[in-house]
Amino acid sequence: MYIYDEHDQRLVDERVKQYRGQTERYLAGEITDEQFLPLRLQNGLYVQRLAPMLRIAIPYGTFNSTQMRKLAHISRHYDKGYGHFSTRQNLQLNWPKLEEVPDILEELASVQMHAIQTSGNCIRNTTTDQFAGAAADELEDPRPYCEIIREWSTFHPEFAFLPRKFKIAVCASEADRAATQMHDIGVEVVHNAAGETGFRVLVGGGLGRTPVIATEIVDFLPKQHLITYLESILRVYNQLGRRDNKYKARIKILVRAMGIDAFREKVEQEWAAIKDGPSTLTEAEFDRAKSFFRSPDYATIDDAAAETALAEQAAQNPAFSNWLKRNVDAHQAPGYAMVTLSLKATGYAPGDLTDKQMEAVADMADQFSFGEIRASHQQNLILAHVRKDQLLAVFEQAQAQNFATANINYLTDMICCPGGDFCALANAKSLPVSEAIQRKFDDLDYLYDLGPIDLNISGCMNACGHHHIGHIGILGVDKKGQEFFQISLGGSQDKDASLAKILGPSFSAADVPDVVEKILDTYVGLRTAEESFLDTYRRVGIDPFKEKVYAK
Ligand code: HEM
Ligand code: SF4
Repeated sequence: MYIYDEHDQRLVDERVKQYRGQTERYLAGEITDEQFLPLRLQNGLYVQRLAPMLRIAIPYGTFNSTQMRKLAHISRHYDKGYGHFSTRQNLQLNWPKLEEVPDILEELASVQMHAIQTSGNCIRNTTTDQFAGAAADELEDPRPYCEIIREWSTFHPEFAFLPRKFKIAVCASEADRAATQMHDIGVEVVHNAAGETGFRVLVGGGLGRTPVIATEIVDFLPKQHLITYLESILRVYNQLGRRDNKYKARIKILVRAMGIDAFREKVEQEWAAIKDGPSTLTEAEFDRAKSFFRSPDYATIDDAAAETALAEQAAQNPAFSNWLKRNVDAHQAPGYAMVTLSLKATGYAPGDLTDKQMEAVADMADQFSFGEIRASHQQNLILAHVRKDQLLAVFEQAQAQNFATANINYLTDMICCPGGDFCALANAKSLPVSEAIQRKFDDLDYLYDLGPIDLNISGCMNACGHHHIGHIGILGVDKKGQEFFQISLGGSQDKDASLAKILGPSFSAADVPDVVEKILDTYVGLRTAEESFLDTYRRVGIDPFKEKVYAK
């Protein structure tokens, strides 16, 4: 992972000092709420329903055990002993005290972490595949490119006050595990016929009030132009994006209004001025970025022997066997595997982790995965480099911490925003709905029979819970002061991305689990052998689901 040099460290330390002064002046009444607002947002601090909320960045989702232990310490000493992993590879603390936030930031800086640009109208944390640098289906490790983007975007003076927030995701594998098409800019690493690396660049995606799937702006951008091209897109957006209406300010609205061809033309005009200029990336620059992401020191392992031993262990232990099939993925290195720790045990808020669990993950990372941890946008944690002969030990430790629910990519591995329990913008409480669904569908055999299903829940139309791209999406809506939930079907966040369609009138919270059951029953009745929920939905459309759910 990226290690701060002295400049990075000084920058982050100075920012803490600056924010400490700002907080002190605010608390002394020397600056107003209005003046303090942009200052705190630039440091990741929202003011929420019950308390402030601090959003901590985890660049491209990769962090280490020392950082995790620090997060555990912070959540214990300054918060209520837990944190929430969000869909943007960030960690959110829901109960920090305003006056203690400078101390928290100082603690974070001591382990090379911060909360800078995690809110406000700037370029946010660049996200990527949680399996980056380890996945068997990967073309290249996307993180060096993320790192280059991170260095370029952090404190970029020109892009500190954009019309609206700006999110970039990078993907470099066969499956899209970064929801690239839902981002303001999606960068897909590709190789051309000559085997050279370049980028397919997508623009204007996003969820929220107006969900849009991003459009291709260039099919192959030679890699040295990454920054000049991104800069050109940002510049056009910064000049032409709407500032008069918050709801129409995202780049997706601009791209739609102009049309992709006119937008591309503008970008090309900007680009002509800076292409091949000083921001052009050199091989030395790529090598420097790549040097932070060298593979760990893998042992030489006989993969076939490791597989045989694993099969024997699995044959004796059905729970382990289930877990291997669902929570373990193929690694590039022989004899290694990638483990997803499920943060979706029944009765736990999706993505939440206690201080003790954070420490347990840190210990497991040290013992089994070179001290490295990943956060996924589906709100789970990953040990990316586990020896196959240690998988059983990992499973047992994970079980002891409630991380071993073998449900990854199944119905109960749901994405859920914090909703009305914490968020001031919510229309409804999403967490109790997620729990009711977890409880109703707690039978793993039934879930396996259903096959992979993404169920995503948001407490309001801002779509932090990605409901538009869930195979089943659930959205909290307000009806004359009462909480209701609107259900949609057919979304996808993978390469075949699609936006879900609304099923019909909304339901009370109490009805949602039964409605989900009816939807699942409809699928089971209509599917052909081997057909997934999404395939069936795409073949039969929404009507059979509607008929069943709204039958009188
Ligand atoms: C509790 C504090 C939070 C607040 C105040 C908040 C606020 C917002 C707002 C206002 C939007 C809409 C932006 C727009 O349409 O321009 C939004 C979108 C979003 N937020 Fe949050 N959010 C919060 C928590 C979260 C959490 C916990 C997650 C992850 C679980 C998250 C991830 C996202 C994502 C992925 C979007 C969609 C952005 C897009 O693609 O347009 N946020 N949030
Ligand atoms: S979707 Fe709405 S309720 Fe949920 S976290 Fe985002 S803003 Fe809050």
